[in-house]
Amino acid sequence: MAEIICVIGNKGGTGKTTLSHMLCQGLGLLGQRAACVLTDTSREPLVPAGRRYVLADARTRDSLTKVVDKLRTLENWIGVIDGGGNRTEMDRKLYALSDLVLLPFRESHEDIRTVLRDLEMFPRAYAIPTQWPTNPWQREAADRSVARLLGAHRDRILRPVNALSSTKLLLQKQLPEQLPTPLANACRAVARQLLEVLEIDFIDHNEDTSGEEQDERLSPAEMPMRLVGGARRSH
Ligand SMILES: Nc1ncnc2c1ncn2[C@@H]1O[C@H](COP(=O)(O)OP(=O)(O)O)[C@@H](O)[C@H]1O
Ligand SMILES: [Mg+2]
Repeated sequence: MAEIICVIGNKGGTGKTTLSHMLCQGLGLLGQRAACVLTDTSREPLVPAGRRYVLADARTRDSLTKVVDKLRTLENWIGVIDGGGNRTEMDRKLYALSDLVLLPFRESHEDIRTVLRDLEMFPRAYAIPTQWPTNPWQREAADRSVARLLGAHRDRILRPVNALSSTKLLLQKQLPEQLPTPLANACRAVARQLLEVLEIDFIDHNEDTSGEEQDERLSPAEMPMRLVGGARRSH
């Protein structure tokens, strides 16, 4: 059976769509088969050419059921469902059918307060900081806000996805011929992290040693991003 990941949260603009595509592209780059599932009726389907993953259109209730049923029959696939946002009922439905649930949030206090409510509403979900500042001062302030406001849920907060302007290339209808290296690295980093959470083994043939990746920048003492087991749904 495929693993199903959904990316939800009761707020628009947190980076759900971007994260879904980064994750799928990263999974593809790591040799893992992935499908990115569109549920947002206000978005148009993208062109698959050049992507390391397949695209599924599930903008109607029926098509979502079909896509999920199909995914369930596929061995060794990961389906990533991009939730639309601001649709609590839909979020609940996606939460119930997913093996792993991600709640992206930005550094604003409004986002942090919203994700706190969502963490409480969805006890199996993980929060993932997105568009995270790379400037050290801003980064430190953002990490501090998270530690202060989300400290009670620290074992459910994943490593951040940094702000990276080239991420918008993934949301273009047509992918450019070549993706910038920092973007490919960021996609792999987020995919590696989620494979760890899902406890799926993988071999990274493209291990990048150029120091582009900044996974380990958070002080584990202040906000341990390493995961504890036991929060996944068991079938
Ligand atoms: N990691 C990132 N770095 C920079 N910009 C980002 C990142 N993730 C998302 N964005 C930008 O934030 C905006 C909202 O992202 P989007 O993925 O559409 O959010 P949502 O699907 O939650 O509404 C877009 O302009 C997108 O390009
Ligand atoms: Mg979206």
